[in-house]
Amino acid sequence: MAAAGSAIGLGSLWRFPYIVSQNGGGMFILLYILFVFVLVLPIFMSELIVGRKTQKSPILAYSALSHRSQNWRVAGWLNVINAFLILSFYAVVAGWTLNYILMSLCQFTAGKTDAQISGLFDILHRAPGLNILWQFLFLLLTGGVILGGVRKGIEYWSKVLMPALFVFLVGLVIYGMTLPGFSQACSFLFSIDVHSLRPSGILEALGMAFFTMSVGIGIIITYGSYMKPDENISQTSALVAVMTVVVSLLAVLMIYPVVFTFGLETAEGPGLVFKTLPVLFNKLPGSLFISTLFFTLLAFTALTSAISLLEELVATVMDLFSWTRKKATAILTGATFLMGIPSALAGSGVFLGDWEKVYGKNFFSTLDMLTGTWLMPIGGLLISLFVGWWVDKEISRKELLTGSKKKVIRALFPLWLFLVRFIAPIAILLIMLQKAEIINIDTWLSK
Ligand code: PHE
Repeated sequence: MAAAGSAIGLGSLWRFPYIVSQNGGGMFILLYILFVFVLVLPIFMSELIVGRKTQKSPILAYSALSHRSQNWRVAGWLNVINAFLILSFYAVVAGWTLNYILMSLCQFTAGKTDAQISGLFDILHRAPGLNILWQFLFLLLTGGVILGGVRKGIEYWSKVLMPALFVFLVGLVIYGMTLPGFSQACSFLFSIDVHSLRPSGILEALGMAFFTMSVGIGIIITYGSYMKPDENISQTSALVAVMTVVVSLLAVLMIYPVVFTFGLETAEGPGLVFKTLPVLFNKLPGSLFISTLFFTLLAFTALTSAISLLEELVATVMDLFSWTRKKATAILTGATFLMGIPSALAGSGVFLGDWEKVYGKNFFSTLDMLTGTWLMPIGGLLISLFVGWWVDKEISRKELLTGSKKKVIRALFPLWLFLVRFIAPIAILLIMLQKAEIINIDTWLSK
């Protein structure tokens, strides 16, 4: 449940929908699903293996299984730095969800036109103080939960709130089916047109698969270290993959009928969810309740993901420097807050205002792209090479067999090993070379 809590979050509900529109729809979604099951799922299992075997956080886990090789420790460090960077901007988005809870309670849609309702996001986005305030409150909340230890309270709440979120999403999708824009949404989301996806979008689909599954960043190693011997690694992994994909699909099926019905902008960027759903809620009876409930559930899923990110950082410094949990949590929450300030101020441009002119994207989007599109696949590449080639395969076999149905694992083990050894590293490498324009898949395909 904790791993599912880490995976399901703003990645599926906020990032996936707008990245889909930037990459042309159906073809991107198909690739995303393929990547989740063929590349990311086997790597997810690898991370659980490393975590449960070593009982350690990423840096020490790499070190323990590589006979203390300094080189592999670097892979662990890359994970930790990436988690730190992601948490810094993730907290800004999560802060928006908290802000929308308060806005819902204040009945922000009352008496406003659709355009005014979506326009509120732009006002929020440009407000420096509000962004910092909510980012700060969200991190405070995350730090508070971490102090209590990871598995207890949150797992209990996950069991109640995750199904609630699921029911809610399904309800909204069913409602979306009655909207006139539904068929247009379906043809956008499910028509497979190879040319709708730029070759560079392939890396984005891969990055998306890593991001939504929380893989390639050491979190699953950390969670693996909390796994008990009677827990089943392959089953847990498959379940998380299916749940994540289903939630991502529900997210786009919920949002795009609204976009097409009410003539909203498809190429909206990071504001998409916040601009479209309130327009829909405003049309429903009981919009105060529905909107408050939705943003509360969204904030909760963001919290369970943020907790996993902070937990990795805390576990790492506790392991490395023998800090107490209290000290580690306080310092890392503070550091993440400081690191997040430029992201929180990106919309207003009051700090590092020239960033966008120089780099083509504001600070927030630069971090989002750097971590979600590049660093996570690189982290995934490293762990697949590590588990595929460095760690004795008998260790993996034993970990996969522990707590699971022996027959199934024995039959599937060669397939898993093949994916981790060959398919995942080669595919990730090719996709990155393509994005870096060192090779061009397009010309191969047209031959
Ligand atoms: N998987 C989380 C989500 O979809 C985001 C995340 C990424 C969490 C990386 C942890 C690590 O929201």
